Amino acid sequence: MERPEAQARIAALSAELEEHNRRYYDLAAPVISDQAFDFRLKELDALEKEWPEFASPNSPTQRVGGAITKQFETVAHRYPMLSLSNSYSRDEVAEFVARVEKEMGRTQYVMELKYDGVAISLSYRNGELVRGVTRGDGEKGDDITANVRTVRSIPLKLRGDFPTELEARGEILFMRAQFDKLNAARAKNGEELYANPRNTAAGSLKQQDPKDVAKRGLDNFIYALQGEDLPSRSHFENIQAARSWGFKTPDVDRRFIDRSDNVEGIMAFIDHWDKARHALEMDIDGIVIKVDDRNAQEELGLTAKSPRWAIAYKFQAEQAVTRLNGVSYQVGRTER
Ligand code: IVH
Repeated sequence: MERPEAQARIAALSAELEEHNRRYYDLAAPVISDQAFDFRLKELDALEKEWPEFASPNSPTQRVGGAITKQFETVAHRYPMLSLSNSYSRDEVAEFVARVEKEMGRTQYVMELKYDGVAISLSYRNGELVRGVTRGDGEKGDDITANVRTVRSIPLKLRGDFPTELEARGEILFMRAQFDKLNAARAKNGEELYANPRNTAAGSLKQQDPKDVAKRGLDNFIYALQGEDLPSRSHFENIQAARSWGFKTPDVDRRFIDRSDNVEGIMAFIDHWDKARHALEMDIDGIVIKVDDRNAQEELGLTAKSPRWAIAYKFQAEQAVTRLNGVSYQVGRTER
């Protein structure tokens, strides 16, 4: 095959496979068989190996795992990745609201599920995924881009009217069904079972071979956006926009995200999910309450490590209970 022909064939196969991926994963309406899909993917893979100059970093071949990462590079976050201060009672939520209202007056809050997974920062330039970095110490994290590309719910290319530069933040996790499937396969092979979805997600993202990560079937939800030209001053609206660009985000219809301008509304959301969380498809360990207006967020600002415009409410059972009941000593005998 000649050079121009190879370039055109790679472009055509990539576009076709992207569309099949979208039909399969987003629309659940595939139009070709798995076998026909694999056949085309193999052809693309072979062509990319022969003509590496035409291989895009966001090619469909990267979904099943690209080159091995020998060592994850440490990179600085453009915007620091903050953590949230925790609350455990209605009184603490009321205190948070009172503190906010003292400065801002009555304002809108957004309530979201607090996903129990691994935080990730995804950088997009001109709608193309360029980097995926772990939280690390909040200032810098590990570049795990090749592994991130295998997570199907993370778009490699955005659709629609997206900002030129975007940082999307969210949580990588296992849906419970997928986690159970992994453990069932391990049980069948007589392998030790994975302890819980969160730690398994963390461990999976540290694999050096993206092909191993692809096989695990991780998932992702986006809950924060950073950038200079985001579409709205409302966090809630930006999350809706992120959905239209192809991200998986907290679902309005299933009330994974909601708004209120008072403590009663916030507590109603919390109480609902405290009871209903066991029926969810994924683990959550609380609810996050955020001031919706980004102007107000900026005015409220930050404390040392966490924003003053948001707080996490942690569910009771998920609080770490470590109680030392006593210490017993065993004195061993020394053998002579
Ligand atoms: S917002 C500045 N929203 O909880 C706000 N975090 O310490 C940044 N998390 O590291 C976080 N679900 O990994 C936010 N709906 C959600 C979340 C969420 C889970 C995690 C996140 C963060 C930690 C808070």
